[in-house]
Amino acid sequence: MRHAIEVRGLVKSFGEVRALDGVDLAAAPGTVLGLLGPNGAGKTTAVRVLSTLTAADAGTARVLGLDVASQAAQVRERLSLTGQYAGLDDALTGEQNLVLIARLLGASRSRARARAHELIERFDLAHAASRPVEGYSGGMRRRLDLAASIVRRPEVLVLDEPTTGLDPSSRGGLWAVVRELVAEGTTVLLTTQYLEEADQLADSIAVIDAGRVIASGTPSQLKQTVGGLVLRMRPVRPEALAQLRDLADWTVGAGGREEDGSLFVPVAHAGEATALMSRVSQAGIDLSAFGLDEPTLDEVFLTLTGHRTGADEKTEVAA
Ligand SMILES: Nc1ncnc2c1ncn2[C@@H]1O[C@H](COP(=O)(O)OP(=O)(O)OP(=O)(O)O)[C@@H](O)[C@H]1O
Ligand SMILES: [Mg+2]
Repeated sequence: MRHAIEVRGLVKSFGEVRALDGVDLAAAPGTVLGLLGPNGAGKTTAVRVLSTLTAADAGTARVLGLDVASQAAQVRERLSLTGQYAGLDDALTGEQNLVLIARLLGASRSRARARAHELIERFDLAHAASRPVEGYSGGMRRRLDLAASIVRRPEVLVLDEPTTGLDPSSRGGLWAVVRELVAEGTTVLLTTQYLEEADQLADSIAVIDAGRVIASGTPSQLKQTVGGLVLRMRPVRPEALAQLRDLADWTVGAGGREEDGSLFVPVAHAGEATALMSRVSQAGIDLSAFGLDEPTLDEVFLTLTGHRTGADEKTEVAA
């Protein structure tokens, strides 16, 4: 088996909306595939097809060589989707929930307790482990949910925007857990709207927009499509923007884009930014703010599609 996840020509429509419009994806065993895209891109739909929760209209999806349509039960045995199969019981404590899941998965009583304890520590829930889940905050519930999905290490783990709404420390904790699982051989499909998250975790990334994969590759390949960095400059006098743009075009070969009185110029490296800044200074243009940033998902999108990520905002359909 060459691919743990293999998707070919997947199509799924909801009425007029073509949520998936011929999607191809592949992930080698023991790697992380990041599915990156804005609201409404089709990420959750792809995840639901792969997890056997939704049937596709056309195309094929295989998990560990198993067809999600005709071998759904076997796929479910070997794949874990955050929040879907775990089914937390609000009246039970966090610890009781984890023990119960472990018992249902066939663990002995002592093994179940040990695993629950391990996960509670891992997800930083010790202070709340003996409280009913109904009193958990959103972030705590999310962490418990993740813990529940890995009570037994899954061969394939599907995480749909796992860190949306988590604070930075919880986010870092989740990344560590994902890395551990992958080191043990789990294949992970992770959807995210954060380039940084995909960058941290994914071996390969597919960028999806309006139901189509518009770019794919390693994180560094993807970033090269937008240039290495983005130089942001805000002139004191807004009239100077045109002159800034000319200088940028002359110095780094790109005029950049204007937004809210600032110019954003893609540069290959910090040296290019310095060269441009020095020309700006020589030209006597005063700046009220400037900065050198990593390209954002917005920049990737703008480069790939010519439109912004937020331009097509749609509400998420609850899974
Ligand atoms: N059950 C459904 N009924 C109708 N339309 C749906 C349904 N599920 C998804 N869609 C539509 O399909 C498109 C893709 O939705 P999907 O939830 O897959 O996007 P997403 O990339 O997960 O977005 P988000 O980042 O907001 O979670 C959207 O236009 C959405 O409105
Ligand atoms: Mg979604």
